[in-house]
Amino acid sequence: MIGQESKAFIDAMKSEHRDLGDMVHRLELLLKEAVGRGWPGPLAEDIWVRLQKLERVLADHFAREEQGGFLEEALAHAPRFGPQAEHLLSEHVTLLACVRYLVREAELNRHTPSAFWQVFADALAGALRQLLAHEAQENALLQKAFNADADIVQ
Ligand SMILES: [Fe+2]
Repeated sequence: MIGQESKAFIDAMKSEHRDLGDMVHRLELLLKEAVGRGWPGPLAEDIWVRLQKLERVLADHFAREEQGGFLEEALAHAPRFGPQAEHLLSEHVTLLACVRYLVREAELNRHTPSAFWQVFADALAGALRQLLAHEAQENALLQKAFNADADIVQ
């Protein structure tokens, strides 16, 4: 049976995923607007600032999943999902490195002409899509692991 602690953990992770999703969607909207308007300076600056915040929130979120037992929770309820959980955790390094790289690029180039930003927009859109897909897979894994646990109990 799913205990209170596990339910609290799942709810906390889902809530963090929702918040992250909101941040990413906001960035995607800004990105579209910036592309449509030819990258006006203030918008480029805004994207850079929001990306910095995403980097901080993401680093904390990943650390909580790694230390707070995302893997252990999934394994405790359905050990067969262990390899999938390990794989998802292993993606954190690459995803965070990618966001960090984009933050640095945005910082270095935020006063440069739009040629840079056209390339940057594609890279950022791709990174945001990857991030959303990653978090959706984590949600699905938690859901499957805890549903499997509930099935065993019934
Ligand atoms: Fe996550």
